[in-house]
Order: sequence, then C-alpha cells, then structure tokens
Amino acid sequence: MKDDRSVINEFKAVLGERPGSYYVRTFGCQLNVSDGEKIKGTLRRLGFTPVKYPENADIIIINTCAVRESAEDRVFGVIGSMKKLKEENPRLVIGIAGCMTAQSNMAERIRRSYPQVDIVIGTNAAADLPYLLLDFFKKRKFTVGLAENDEFPYTPVRESRFKASVPIMYGCNNFCTYCIVPYVRGRERSRPAEDILKEIRSLAGRGYKEIMLLGQNVNSYNGGDGIGFTQLLEKINAVDGDFVVRFMSSHPKDFSHELIETIFRCEKIEKHIHLPVQSGSSDVLRRMNRHYTAEDYLAIIDEIRRHDPDLSISTDIIVGFPNETDEEFQATMELVKRVRFSNIYSFIYSKRSGTKAAEMEDPVPKEVKSIRMGELLLTQGEISQEFHSKFIGKELRVLAEEISKKHKGYLTGRSPENVIVEFMGDKQLIGQFVRVKITDAMNWAVRGEII
Ligand code: 5AD
Ligand code: SF4
Repeated sequence: MKDDRSVINEFKAVLGERPGSYYVRTFGCQLNVSDGEKIKGTLRRLGFTPVKYPENADIIIINTCAVRESAEDRVFGVIGSMKKLKEENPRLVIGIAGCMTAQSNMAERIRRSYPQVDIVIGTNAAADLPYLLLDFFKKRKFTVGLAENDEFPYTPVRESRFKASVPIMYGCNNFCTYCIVPYVRGRERSRPAEDILKEIRSLAGRGYKEIMLLGQNVNSYNGGDGIGFTQLLEKINAVDGDFVVRFMSSHPKDFSHELIETIFRCEKIEKHIHLPVQSGSSDVLRRMNRHYTAEDYLAIIDEIRRHDPDLSISTDIIVGFPNETDEEFQATMELVKRVRFSNIYSFIYSKRSGTKAAEMEDPVPKEVKSIRMGELLLTQGEISQEFHSKFIGKELRVLAEEISKKHKGYLTGRSPENVIVEFMGDKQLIGQFVRVKITDAMNWAVRGEII
C-alpha cells in the first residue's frame, strides 16, 4: 500500500487544513453505495466536512451507474442541474465518478456537453481521488483520471450506524452478453480474507447488527490459500458479536453443494438467498452467456428447498432480451410460478453499447416488452402476497431500520427472510432487533405488533 502521507501533506500545503465542504450523491447498486462511502471517507481524510445539500458544498461528487440506460439518463439530468449551482458559485468543484465514466469516450462527451464538470474520476475513485484532486487544484483545469492507483487507505463514512456493507471482491469475469459491468469494473479481484475479517471484527465491536457482503459474484470469491467463499463465510460466522450476515449477488454457475451446506450450518447467515436467474428459457440463457440452463437453476432451488421448503429466495429477471419470443418469455413465467420467489427485481432489457447483446437483432416492439413486464409483475405480486401471508400469526426477529415513510407512527425493518416488516414503535428502537408478531400481509411487506 502506498504511503499516503506525502499526498495528504501536499494537499494540505495547496488547500490548507480546511479545504471546505463535500456532498456525494450515489446512484445504482449497493457496491456503488459502498464506493460512495469510501469516497466520503477519502474526502474526510483530506480535511473536507460533510454538508446535507449540494447548494452548500464546495465540492460535489456524483457517483454514477451505467447498468441501464434509465440510470444514465437520471445521472445526466442531475449533472445538467448542477450547471446552475456552478453559475452561483464559480469556485464549486464538480467531479463525476463511477461506472458511467469508464465507457469509451464518456470523459470526452462530458467535457464537451457539461462544462460545469471539473474532474472525471473513474471507477477507482476512492484510491485515485486524492491524486486527481491535487492535480486539479494545482492546474485548475478539466482533469481526467481513469488510471488505477494502489488502494488509498480509507475509513468509509458509513451510511448507517447498524448496517454495514463490506465489499469482498470487485469486478466480474463472466461477460453476460447484456452486461456492461465487466467492461467498466474490470476483472475479478478478491480482497484478502484477513482484511475483510479485520473490518468485520471492528464493525461487530462497534455494535453493527447486519453485515452485507458485496461483490458482483460473491461466490467466485478467491482469497488465495484455499480460501473460497464458503471458507470465508465460516470465518466470518466465527467472529464474536450479535450480528447477522447477508451477501449478494451470487451466480448460479458457482452455487455449490458445499455453499448450500455452509449457509444452513452457519447461524449468523440470514435465511435468504438472492440468486439471479435472468430468464427461465435455456435458449435465452445461452444467448445471455450465463453458463447454466433453466434445469440447472431449478436443481439448485430443489436442493435449497430440501434443507428448508419455505426458504426465502429472490431473483433478478430481464424481460425482453433481444429476440425473446413469446414462448421464451412464457418459460420465464413458468419458472417464476414454479420457484415461488419471495421477491423479484425485474428489468426491461436495456441496450448497452460495447456489449455482445447490443449487436443482436431485436425485432420485439417496446410495447410487447412492457406487456410482458406487466404480466410478470402481476403474477409475482400474487406470489409475494402468498409468501407473506404464511407469516400471519408467526413471530419474527426484525432489525428495526427506519421510520415508515408510508404510515405515521410506524417503523419498518427487515426479517431474516429479507421481508419488510411494518410495526408501531418508538424511533429509539431503530438499530435494534425486536420481536414482532405478524398480523397482516401485503404483497410488498407484512405488518405486525411488537411483543
Ligand atoms: N438491461 C437490463 N437489465 C440489466 N441488468 C444488467 N444489465 C442489464 C441490462 N443491460 C440487470 C440484471 C442484473 C441486475 C443487477 O441488473 O438482472 O442481475
Ligand atoms: Fe453483469 Fe453477468 Fe457479471 Fe453480473 S455476472 S456483473 S450480470 S456480467
């Protein structure tokens, strides 16, 4: 690891001990949220202080997502709206980080179309940021840095005082044909197990109640010395403390018998599995380059259900992959009805330039894709309702997370199954485990009373 003192000292020589205030806005997945926490940690280490609103910031970092076009459009909208802030405060520094920046020509496109942007940081933001900022403040002109520096020592500024995301690996080697991630995040890199364990011991010691292990493919984790994902889970499970462990996402091709055994053996691992299937048609799965068939996926589900017939399993589904026929879509519907997921995250296929699928013909009209999506959501709504109804009359251990945005006087939390639970309660309970007896079920959540 690089000695960061010299860059920090140099930074302070240029900008002083108090360089100003920061505001970081993150889009996209939990890995990106975790990157956002690191960016904040790095800015704090350089002497910046946080502010709640972008209007009050001296530096704004937008941490972007590129997985679908809709995410990108939202980011462009936000970058556009920053123009006004820059006019009001010409000393404001605006930086763009995250997955969008790593696409070819994006830095140039940003420079041309959005002159309010000062720095394009790339996907290695937390590590590169100090060097890039220093460069920018010396020259005061548009700076691009997509290079990889060594890890810059950081302490993330955590979004929550009781739930923590811990990345265990970065990047992806799978090249699913629709996905931009391998292009913008690079190849798989696993963090050393000892680093991960050190971080988790520290979080547990500070009273964190939930640890979420993150990676594009957590079950491809390879920490060297024979430490794969199952061994890592065993080690994490052995850390002292009253906390639970979740992980996402997993890839069906690496979901081994050993992993299933480990999940059921380790008492700290929550009884919920998120296992993206993407499609129920083996032909579509082949065109997606997923390396498994619908039958392979169902065999994993059957094995999980032999351990626990009611286990909560959620998934990701892409509707309208290029050339998806009615029959192929119906295969997805059949799989959804058969597996009875607790929840699905479904997306209409979005063309990402540079990927293999972007070259495929796609004659299916948008309207047809929307109708398919509607059909899928309707069916899953009924299945989720049925899944939730099974909890009526039962007691659940719930981590109280926040004040309900929908119902006054209520808190919401999550059960081990990752089900959203609403209950009346005082906000003092936030961050604690409580026992809730379930009285009602909706398709998006359950409701109950604290015992
Ligand atoms: N279009 C639509 N959905 C996508 N995903 C990834 N790439 C695309 C795309 N181009 C979805 C997948 C993945 C989830 C994180 O996002 O379902 O599992
Ligand atoms: Fe994208 Fe597939 Fe890698 Fe997931 S496994 S990040 S969907 S390429």
